[in-house]
Amino acid sequence: MEEKEDPKCSYAQALDNSPKDEFQELLQTLEQVSWDGVPLVKYCGCWFPVWMFRQILAAQKHYKAKDTDIILSTLPKSGTTWMKALMFSIANRHVFPIDQSPLLTSTPHKLVPPLEFDTFWEQDNNPDLEAIPSPRIFGTHMHFKTLPECIRERNCKIIYICRNPLDQFVSQIHFSSQNRSGRDADPVAIDEAFNMYCQGISPYGPFWDDILGYWNAHLENPGKVLFLKYEDLKEDITSQVKKIAEFMGFPFSLEEEEQGLIDQISGLCSFESLSNLAPNKTGDNNRTVKSSSFFRKGQVGDWTNYLTPAMAERIKNLMDSKFEGSGLMFKT
Ligand code: A3P
Repeated sequence: MEEKEDPKCSYAQALDNSPKDEFQELLQTLEQVSWDGVPLVKYCGCWFPVWMFRQILAAQKHYKAKDTDIILSTLPKSGTTWMKALMFSIANRHVFPIDQSPLLTSTPHKLVPPLEFDTFWEQDNNPDLEAIPSPRIFGTHMHFKTLPECIRERNCKIIYICRNPLDQFVSQIHFSSQNRSGRDADPVAIDEAFNMYCQGISPYGPFWDDILGYWNAHLENPGKVLFLKYEDLKEDITSQVKKIAEFMGFPFSLEEEEQGLIDQISGLCSFESLSNLAPNKTGDNNRTVKSSSFFRKGQVGDWTNYLTPAMAERIKNLMDSKFEGSGLMFKT
């Protein structure tokens, strides 16, 4: 069952009602834990990394959604990079031919910036986003109930992608170990991180709240929220790309299909292609995160190499109880 919504869940409201250094004051009242050396803060039932909490509040307060905006929402390590590349390519296919795609010279995260960092840095927490051509596409890891209210209220669309939690957990641990700069703590043991994960503690956890929030929003309004699974994209990318394009409002014409455009876009955005492009092989993405760390194996079921049968059983039981009656199933 989803937690009952806290009336203070509107960051804008929380900030407006606070005195001067509202951010620090608010932070001090909230529960915090360390996850693999990363401080997390619990707000509205969700564990946000403290380093981006200020930007999250700024995005919540200042972001003005347009009806033409498209928001990509994900739990980290669920296919964000892949979806950013696909969505950018679908929306801009009439602007850039495939062989001149900006993906050849830039990372998917630069082309589709995250709403809660890069876009709303604290020193520039009310940037002018008006000049960005439509459709503006932003990524976010915020749970549905913590999205800026205007995203839920306006007619802009949301695409959510999730991944079976076993693989998502394993991917998160590897990603964290790849990006340890600025962290003093020893790397977390997998058992400890796993226990925390099962208690809902991980960046943007609990995973079940995030998934259920978007699942219910999708059931309520499928025209507003498209719900995708990483495993389905792996299984049949062509039909998923068609579905994504239709939902975004940029369906492929018969002529484009016959020209093989869907295959060309899927090919450009495939793991093999993206991970071998120069901008994704070197450099940092968001100041401290290595661009290459967004690409590891890109497989379904890699968890079997890291989790014991007992650990897998525990997560499966957790999924059964949390997702009971929702109709949600995952291929593991
Ligand atoms: P693994 O660690 O299991 O390999 P995110 O983009 O949300 O941070 O997720 C990263 C995960 O997606 C990593 O999973 C990464 O390898 C995988 N990934 C990145 N690009 C991909 C692509 N084009 N196709 C499939 N998987 C991809």
